[in-house]
Amino acid sequence: MQVSLIVLAAGMGTRMNSDLPKVLHPLAGVPMLHHALAAGRALEPSRIVVVTGHEAQAVARAALDFDESIETVVQDPQLGTAHAVAQAAPILADAPGEAIVLYGDTPFVRPETLEAMLAARATHAVVILGFEPRDPGRYGRLIVEGDQLLKIVEYKDASEAERAIRLCNSGVVCAEAAALFSLVARVGNQNAAGEYYLTDIVELACAQGLSVGYVTCPEAETLGINTRAQLAEAEAAFQTQARAEALENGVTLTAPETVFFALDTWIGRDAVVGPNVIFGPAVTVESGAEIKGFCHLEGCHISRGATVGPFARLRPGAELAEDVHVGNFVEIKNAVLDEGVKVGHLTYLGDAHVGEFTNIGAGTVTCNYDGVMKHRTEIGRNVFIGSDTMLVAPVTVGDRAMTASGSVITEDVPAEALALARARQVNKPGLATRLIERLKAIKAGKGKS
Ligand code: UD1
Ligand code: CA
Repeated sequence: MQVSLIVLAAGMGTRMNSDLPKVLHPLAGVPMLHHALAAGRALEPSRIVVVTGHEAQAVARAALDFDESIETVVQDPQLGTAHAVAQAAPILADAPGEAIVLYGDTPFVRPETLEAMLAARATHAVVILGFEPRDPGRYGRLIVEGDQLLKIVEYKDASEAERAIRLCNSGVVCAEAAALFSLVARVGNQNAAGEYYLTDIVELACAQGLSVGYVTCPEAETLGINTRAQLAEAEAAFQTQARAEALENGVTLTAPETVFFALDTWIGRDAVVGPNVIFGPAVTVESGAEIKGFCHLEGCHISRGATVGPFARLRPGAELAEDVHVGNFVEIKNAVLDEGVKVGHLTYLGDAHVGEFTNIGAGTVTCNYDGVMKHRTEIGRNVFIGSDTMLVAPVTVGDRAMTASGSVITEDVPAEALALARARQVNKPGLATRLIERLKAIKAGKGKS
């Protein structure tokens, strides 16, 4: 079955009280918009169209960051949800099969729920996703008769009797793409808000003798984010769920309530995660790896048997092969560490490759930035980098080589060589105590004057 997704993301989100468009506010480490896109992408849609409007370019960029194949269309001005869907019509004019409408500010709809809507299409021309919230508030209300949906009334337009209805509209719609666009084209704006309501397609479809049905889901899935308070609630809900899932999947979390996951965090079975670990986007951790407390990880891969932290920072492009050890106060960025590499303490490795079983001494820095450009450091296998080595990139250290501690390495080191790049030590007998006596005398003299 061919499916097209239409994700509405043109609204301003006034109640966020923000310069940033609502759908770009981060939720679980990624723009809010990515959540709805991820749920929709699980259906393997052939086309995804994001309707942008407010800050259209920034929203389009975020959509393309999620998936380069996404198409975007600008809705200007924003005249309502039906008008928003209509903007996708030219793009999807020749798209056969189903269309599903999602909202960029409704992040938690599950793929299984969307599947249930597609299944309900066997008996209904249009399927709407409904739910029964604890507080129906200002949601649109579903007017039903048996399994038939007759009408959706927006809160602003509803009578007292209609407002008493508890079954509400989530906004998610599923219909054959061609039918959806022909219905949307006929929606008018004679209502309290003067907007083109997507919800009006229900009555229009019924008037045409088409069957309109509905599927329901728990309120947690349809949580719409309109305020910062709701954003914070959504973050908490996401983290609670992600922690439970990690535990369920066989990950040990010693203090689950202190660990924060991103939308796409992937952790294998029997991995161990200590307290206060933060996962930014795009982190994968293989089975049996251990992340100790207070680590900050983002855009990195940690292989089986590796140990990281406490207090380590892995930034985008950090790739740790099997049995790598990264210790405290170590930062790794855009660097590949081959099997068995040890980087124990106080080190920065950026734009680098480190060969198998190499040991990086405490306080080592790859000096990758010259103030204008970035340069690479290549370190071979079984190398011993002495403590406090500055590797001034671009530079290469050959296999089985060593650097003396305190060296500033500016030239390539051949394989098996020892590189010494520091001043030779000179000892002056007795000079330390003579110096101290002289300084004490100077201080005493000053005190008198
Ligand atoms: C909408 C529904 C309401 C439902 C509620 C669920 C309509 C008319 N009403 O109301 O029945 O209970 O969602 O949360 O559909 N958008 C655009 N272009 C526009 C207008 C909106 O892209 O011109 C986007 C918004 O960015 C947002 C979504 O559509 O992502 C919903 O719009 P919003 O104004 O929040 O609709 P509600 O009034 O909440
Ligand atoms: Ca809304």
